[in-house]
Amino acid sequence: MIPQLFIHDLLGRVDIVDAIDRHVPLKKVGANFIACCPFHNEKTPSFTVSQTKQFYHCFGCGAHGNAINFLIDYSGLSFVEAVNDLAANVGLQVPQESDTHSREVNSISLSQSYIDDEYSARSYEISPQDLIAAMQTAAQFYREKLKVSENAIAYLKKRGLSGKIAARFAIGYAPAGWQNLEEVFPDYKSERVRKLLVKAGLVISNDDTKQYDRFRDRIMFPILNQRGQIVGFGGRVLKQEEPKYLNSPETVLFEKGRELYNLFSSRHAIREANCVVVVEGYMDVIMLSQYGINYAVATLGTATTSLHIQKLLRQTDNIIFCFDGDKAGKKAAWRALENSLAHISDGKYLSFLFLPEGEDPDSYIRNYGKESFEKKLKQAMPLTEFLFAEICSELNLQSLEGRAKLVNDVKPLLQQVKASALSLILLNRLVELSGINRNELEELLQIRPGRKIRKLENLSKQQLTTPYRRLIRALIYNPNYSVKLDRNLLVECSVSDEEANALKELIGFIDAHPHLMKQTKFTASLLTFLQDSSYRALLEKIESEILEWGDSIDLEVEFIGALEKLQQIHRNRRMTELRSKSLNKLTEEEKRELQRLAML
Ligand code: GTP
Ligand code: MN
Repeated sequence: MIPQLFIHDLLGRVDIVDAIDRHVPLKKVGANFIACCPFHNEKTPSFTVSQTKQFYHCFGCGAHGNAINFLIDYSGLSFVEAVNDLAANVGLQVPQESDTHSREVNSISLSQSYIDDEYSARSYEISPQDLIAAMQTAAQFYREKLKVSENAIAYLKKRGLSGKIAARFAIGYAPAGWQNLEEVFPDYKSERVRKLLVKAGLVISNDDTKQYDRFRDRIMFPILNQRGQIVGFGGRVLKQEEPKYLNSPETVLFEKGRELYNLFSSRHAIREANCVVVVEGYMDVIMLSQYGINYAVATLGTATTSLHIQKLLRQTDNIIFCFDGDKAGKKAAWRALENSLAHISDGKYLSFLFLPEGEDPDSYIRNYGKESFEKKLKQAMPLTEFLFAEICSELNLQSLEGRAKLVNDVKPLLQQVKASALSLILLNRLVELSGINRNELEELLQIRPGRKIRKLENLSKQQLTTPYRRLIRALIYNPNYSVKLDRNLLVECSVSDEEANALKELIGFIDAHPHLMKQTKFTASLLTFLQDSSYRALLEKIESEILEWGDSIDLEVEFIGALEKLQQIHRNRRMTELRSKSLNKLTEEEKRELQRLAML
């Protein structure tokens, strides 16, 4: 649990322009910095970074956030990693908080629920550093045990693994027995160590008294994160037993949808080969490496997620998925395709290699050798080809119905594609296959967002800026203005008014966090603390409007102006209300009120 106040301080010290410029070179234009958006494909820059307010916004795709969000979305780091990364850059120590309130360990997010955080005061129990140290100790222990286990060594030999490669992948062996880790964790049964090991996923404890090692009598494969720290293990049985593989549970360090086996160690090889091969199993990665193919990674018993794809596309322009030729392999490949489409930009190339029935990369390279495997890689099926092959395999394109269904099936896929070259290729192929002409298809698929619509949007934005919206904007810019806002003005607004409700939420947050607000320089965007807000999209949009302000904005004038407008709206509403009653039904007090209102 990272305290809010720390996040606030951290964002106050980090400069988002530096943090982003390191990955995406920025250019100063007016008060802001711009670049072509790294989150979608574009030729003219609409990605804008505000140095004064420390947030970025893309006017093209709507990407929006602070320095932490940028690292999460761009570099594929987890929240904790991103915070650590930024903190290391400015030489700050990340404080930890105990999670005694039994919160989910991996639900670290900047939600409203961490409000009461005063980070300096509380000491902590278990930090991510402790967990990493525990994993390291366990890995070392498993390696020592492998050296003295004849059975395990024999198993690996039988599978054709060399000692050198086993060492390179730090393969180990978890002995049979229930509490072996006690050997290297002397206080194994103390409350603190038990908690630590349970949290690390190394020990299972159903109640406070019983505890036993999760991994028993298994070959152990350590899983490293992008910084080379051990965050999990895969454990394989030696005999035919179920489950064949047991993976670490998801912990605060380890999210399966984010990590890829061998990504850390394969980085240089991926650069050199200019491609990465995605396979399904640990043993596939290891055996490929033994045969000199060091640019393979594996998902961890899960589908390829879009986070995986984004992570890989940052390392290389060329991903080759290598799956079994069977039905399950096809299905896995299709999932990978679906999760990729939105993230491919022009110049990126994805392809699919299906091995002959009954072979996996491990057996293939042992049977046919490196050259043959690399030749196969070169012949992998391009994404577009795979996409149409799969969809068409169930259709009869001779029939009108078949062609209509084709268009229908391709539509949701094509709509995700942002890369212009790729969507053109897909579209052209669809023209060929469906026999429908290009213009009609574009219409049918609604893939060209009409310019007219955008213009209209802009126009209405200027004309219809409500005082609620203006107040939100001003408060995001400087929350301290909230002291000037009469809370009564918010009481009567209708429940259906999104902006009014968002404003209420904002005020509620500000009121609930006096210690955050007291910071002299409120440089972290207020939205940092409202990531879970149901108005987040709206708030982000409003924050982006700040980019048009430049440095010369007179906030005082803007705020007071909006406030007066709001008061006027309230006054008019009240007057209409009073006037709708017939005069003789008004009380004396109401008559005086009406008079007073009319005079203002
Ligand atoms: P070997 O039999 O050792 O060659 O395994 P493999 O790597 O060829 O495994 P397989 O193709 O059966 O599975 C691919 C990957 O899926 C493995 O590396 C694991 O990550 C995962 N996996 C396989 N079996 C299980 C299982 O029983 N449970 C879990 N959680 N994951 C599994
Ligand atoms: Mn295998």
